[in-house]
Amino acid sequence: MAGKYGSLDSETSPRKLGGDRFDNGRALSAKAHHLIPGGAHTYAKGDDQFPEQAPGFIQRGKGCHVWDLDGNEFIEYGMGLRAVTLGHAFRPVIDAAAEQMQFGANFTRPAPIEVECAERFLELIPTADMVKFGKHGSDALDAAVRLSRAHTGRDFIGICSDHPFFSVSDWFIGATPMPGGIPQWVRSHTVGFHYNDLKSVAGMFDQHPGQIACVILEAARLEEPQEGFLQSLKDLCHRNGALLVFDEMITGFRWHKSGAQHVYGVTPDLSSFGKAIANGFSLSALAGKREVMRLGGYDHDRERVFLLSTTHGAETHALAAGIATMTTYRDEDVVGHLYRQGRKLREGVSAAAREAGVERQVQCLGRDCAVLFTTKDGEGKPSQEFRALFLQEMIRRGVLAPSFVVSYSHTDADIQHTIEAAAEALRVYRKALDGNVHDYLKGRPVKPVFRPYG
Ligand SMILES: Cc1ncc(COP(=O)(O)O)c(C=O)c1O
Repeated sequence: MAGKYGSLDSETSPRKLGGDRFDNGRALSAKAHHLIPGGAHTYAKGDDQFPEQAPGFIQRGKGCHVWDLDGNEFIEYGMGLRAVTLGHAFRPVIDAAAEQMQFGANFTRPAPIEVECAERFLELIPTADMVKFGKHGSDALDAAVRLSRAHTGRDFIGICSDHPFFSVSDWFIGATPMPGGIPQWVRSHTVGFHYNDLKSVAGMFDQHPGQIACVILEAARLEEPQEGFLQSLKDLCHRNGALLVFDEMITGFRWHKSGAQHVYGVTPDLSSFGKAIANGFSLSALAGKREVMRLGGYDHDRERVFLLSTTHGAETHALAAGIATMTTYRDEDVVGHLYRQGRKLREGVSAAAREAGVERQVQCLGRDCAVLFTTKDGEGKPSQEFRALFLQEMIRRGVLAPSFVVSYSHTDADIQHTIEAAAEALRVYRKALDGNVHDYLKGRPVKPVFRPYG
């Protein structure tokens, strides 16, 4: 079948991965920057996040393979900013969404699928009593912030300063190096603590006695929680009258089908889910204890809280995609596959790094189900030049890998190809360490998303 998105059958024919012609992508990119601030609707996908020798646009995907505008094919990692855990165009999910679309997307009253999806979610996340759906991870966490403030009657929010992203809203963006447009009084109401550092949490409560509504963190990111950290954190929060909120945007449906709260055996008061919940369709969830969540309803005598209510919040085909995704997680060993493939990749890339003599520079970090890598310079400092070089050399060899975060669609052959590409790319990396990185990098380095100026 051929059409606007090329041939859907081409993935079955023999082919070469990667390429170094990106002319069509570059042409569209120029137009995109004219029409869209930053040239993309999501910063993390922007041109500044990738080397110049990279596909500018992805036209289509199947499994973990994607095709760009110039007809180049790549194995992709961290797909859809880690939302697409099952694979692009994963049949059961798109079938469920397409079938639901035949019956209408949005009505004047709720659709029964809203209840079905809530049931499926709570079946997988039994540590929560109630759930309310939204569209973005940010929506869900913003709702957790509002509920916590209403429940406690307090204004301050405590966030883990070692975790990179929580929400697009002012309460979080005001605490980043890019706080433009956010009033000082909002910035001053978000305070930080460090992961695995209970003293810093206690210090935060001491500095703002009776003022902190909730403490927000990912239960784990690259570092695992020290023995007892999460439980002690919960106790400390409750002793100080604050709620504990886990951001399960990445850990949920990846660490375990029942979330990081299941893995670590600590139930937060509230938690937010998104990304993997609907395999790339727009769906997020705020989940938590009935006592707190019910403030968003009207079967109580307390002041009501306006909780997650948007026109598109319960779009029926996104809920259908969510049910199909969660059903796949329930019935198949998705998470086991993520861990297995991630471990093979970590072992292969680490061995290749040792062989190339760059094991101090390029290290795989984090759980096998969510592997990230470092790209340091000769002095051991994180380097945007070397990150751009590594990405460039992987892209040339058919791998689009801002991370090594795998999906249910990454096969042994995909992992093997990636390890072989990495082995070659890392030999170039070694040469650049021995010489000058700019002799090997074609164009500018990449840049961090959060920066105050261009
Ligand atoms: C840990 C974490 N929390 C929250 C969010 C926000 O989710 P969304 O982009 O769906 O609003 C992200 C997004 O990358 C995230 O990584």
